[in-house]
Amino acid sequence: MDEATKNELVEAAREAAKQAYAPYSDFHVGAALLFADGEIVGGCNVENASYGLALCAETVAVAKAMGAGRRGGLVAVAVTGPGAEPITPCGRCRQVLNELAALGGTDPLVLCVGPDAVEEMRLSQLLPAAFGPASLD
Ligand code: THU
Repeated sequence: MDEATKNELVEAAREAAKQAYAPYSDFHVGAALLFADGEIVGGCNVENASYGLALCAETVAVAKAMGAGRRGGLVAVAVTGPGAEPITPCGRCRQVLNELAALGGTDPLVLCVGPDAVEEMRLSQLLPAAFGPASLD
């Protein structure tokens, strides 16, 4: 992935975070998914007065993409939070991302975006020995 594309994805995650509905935690998260055809799908966290029902930004982005018909082709993911350090996707989001990635047989690059630094890792590093669609065969 070239630097310009990475920068575009990082910017999309930052833009998505601006839409966060997080009145309870005040922790505004944005995520952006890059697909093989170049399309980027963003998502933000969506909280609820029933606190435990909060939806994470990555999960919202995956739901948007799959709701639009995407089934694989996931090349990279960027996620950003409000803190001084980059955040990694939560455990549930790792599993949700893995489902979409596994459908297309990719191991997406995950860009964990902080205000100053971007840490890069593969989804398989964040979720080794994943349970996925093939586990049901
Ligand atoms: N959150 C995300 O959106 N993604 C993550 O990977 C970690 C946590 C959200 C959930 C909740 O709205 C807020 O951050 C605080 O946990």
